[in-house]
Amino acid sequence: MTKRTKLMNPVDFFGEWAEIGKDIGMEKGHAKSVQFMIDKILENKSNSFTFLDAGCGNGWVVRKMNDIELCSYSAGLDGAKKMIEKAKTFDSDSDYFCSDLLDWIPNKKYDVIHSMEVFYYFVNPEKIIQKIYDTWLNKSGILVFGVDHYKENKSAINWPHECGVFMNTLSIDDWNKIIIDVGFKNITFWQIGKKNDWAGTLVFKAEKQH
Ligand SMILES: C[S@@+](CC[C@H](N)C(=O)[O-])C[C@H]1O[C@@H](n2cnc3c(N)ncnc32)[C@H](O)[C@@H]1O
Repeated sequence: MTKRTKLMNPVDFFGEWAEIGKDIGMEKGHAKSVQFMIDKILENKSNSFTFLDAGCGNGWVVRKMNDIELCSYSAGLDGAKKMIEKAKTFDSDSDYFCSDLLDWIPNKKYDVIHSMEVFYYFVNPEKIIQKIYDTWLNKSGILVFGVDHYKENKSAINWPHECGVFMNTLSIDDWNKIIIDVGFKNITFWQIGKKNDWAGTLVFKAEKQH
């Protein structure tokens, strides 16, 4: 990765990645963890549900969800214009929204919010997670998110310097506390793909119960 002196905004950074086709490598790199997350979403589900991918990149997870029978509606949201343009090129049937997550006001609530490798770009991740809880999720809705950059994952600890992008280096306990404080219940987490110094993708699943 290129070393930069000034920290770049993540949305601009990933907009550049979309321009040069690095979104495809990211899709491949995240595929196994995301498949685990989708399996957790589908576990014990028998009713149809609506789905939003927060920080959807080129929309690959939204397209994947379209193939799942129980998923009645699937949409994606990302701040990078080029990512959303690409998503719309691949898939003209789904809704893709281009906005900063913190500014976005949904026109309906969702049963499932999914997010892969997005929340640590926030200086105060509790703000976006609270917003999701209060205004994006239906009653009994679930949040499933994954992060690779966290304190216990030593292999990814240097990413902010390598990428020149701000990343919030929180521990597993820090993430857990945020989710509890926001009000989520039935919280579970896993570390997916653990290998040597790689502590795995930290995946959380949590439910809104009122
Ligand atoms: C590491 S990429 C992951 C993309 C996708 N989830 C995937 O797994 O391929 C992070 C994405 O989050 C988006 N993002 C980061 N901060 C954002 C913010 N504040 N508002 C909207 N999108 C944001 C970036 O534009 C980028 O597409």
